[in-house]
Amino acid sequence: MRVLGIETSCDETGVAVYDSRQGLLAHRLYSQARQHAEFGGVVPELASRDHLRRLAALTGQALDEAGLEKSDLNGVACTAGPGLIGALLAGLVFAHGLARALGVPVIGVHHMEAHLLAPLLEGDAPEFPYLALLVSGGHSLLVDVSGYGQYRVLGQSLDDAAGEAFDKGAKLLGLGYPGGPEIARLAARGEAGRFRLPTPMRGRKTLDFSFSGLKTALLYKLRELEAEEPLNEAGRASLALALETAIVESLLDRTARALEKTGHNRLVVAGGVGANRRLRQQLRARCDAGGVNLHYPRVEYCTDNGAMIALTGCLRLAGGAPRAEAPEPRPRWDLSEVPSFSPAPDDAA
Ligand code: KG4
Ligand code: ZN
Repeated sequence: MRVLGIETSCDETGVAVYDSRQGLLAHRLYSQARQHAEFGGVVPELASRDHLRRLAALTGQALDEAGLEKSDLNGVACTAGPGLIGALLAGLVFAHGLARALGVPVIGVHHMEAHLLAPLLEGDAPEFPYLALLVSGGHSLLVDVSGYGQYRVLGQSLDDAAGEAFDKGAKLLGLGYPGGPEIARLAARGEAGRFRLPTPMRGRKTLDFSFSGLKTALLYKLRELEAEEPLNEAGRASLALALETAIVESLLDRTARALEKTGHNRLVVAGGVGANRRLRQQLRARCDAGGVNLHYPRVEYCTDNGAMIALTGCLRLAGGAPRAEAPEPRPRWDLSEVPSFSPAPDDAA
């Protein structure tokens, strides 16, 4: 079974080919980040137009890299949601057209399910059940995963997502978009403990997240520090470190509580913020100390990509998951609503 996967939910155009026996055969990614950088965030209209411009060429490149013809494909998978409606539509229209022309099914994929299954791209498949921490630009979720398509959302952000906290914090500090990598780079030169920001939700009984108060705390701290003169580079680096530390500590605190509540000893971390080095190091240390098996995909599969969509589409197709003739874009889509499925043993990674 060979499936082409298309990702266009936000500002990355990803196209990949996944084979149920051989694994990932090709993987192409075009990031629009530079186009949006001057606006300090993603401009939806620009995003949809650029996806349309890139999709055909990226598909051709991915097929060449895989050494395949279009006619070798058994299905076309595409992110159907959640995401920006125009961007989703761009991918879905392309996927549907291609699938129709080839006479193969089109599979609408839930973007967060794809993030959650991304460790399978590494052949690093945790056994069910496990806990997943999914942290991206649009979502912060703790999910109890009991099987393919069997997801119970235990906690989510009440306001901003973790990635949004990085992005908005970066804007306040005069850094570029996307903010996560920019904050991480600057924070690496910061002095630990010079500034402190509150750790959101620390110790709370629920498993939810909240990051908008942190953004306000950063704004006030910045105003206080800059009342006399602008903060120098070393000061900004230490403030970036305080922000990164507060976000990471909050994620660690919520995750530890979820592990305790569920009793799971396997944890998957994915989504763009899962690329954060500090988060990865600290989680590794805590999981090692607590006897928890930690799985995360390599950095390029943590941020948005077509490989995770091709993989998820392939598993869903092989598992006989119910699917729509022409999947509709679903800008908002609750992860616990996706149908469950069971891939044949050969097709499960
Ligand atoms: O999963 P993703 O690529 O796209 C969405 O589905 O949203 O996540 C993008 C988010 C952005 O907010 C970006 O700032 C953040 O992930 N991000 C990071 C890092 N790399 C990307 N945040 C912290 N540290 C990083 N190294
Ligand atoms: Zn994502």
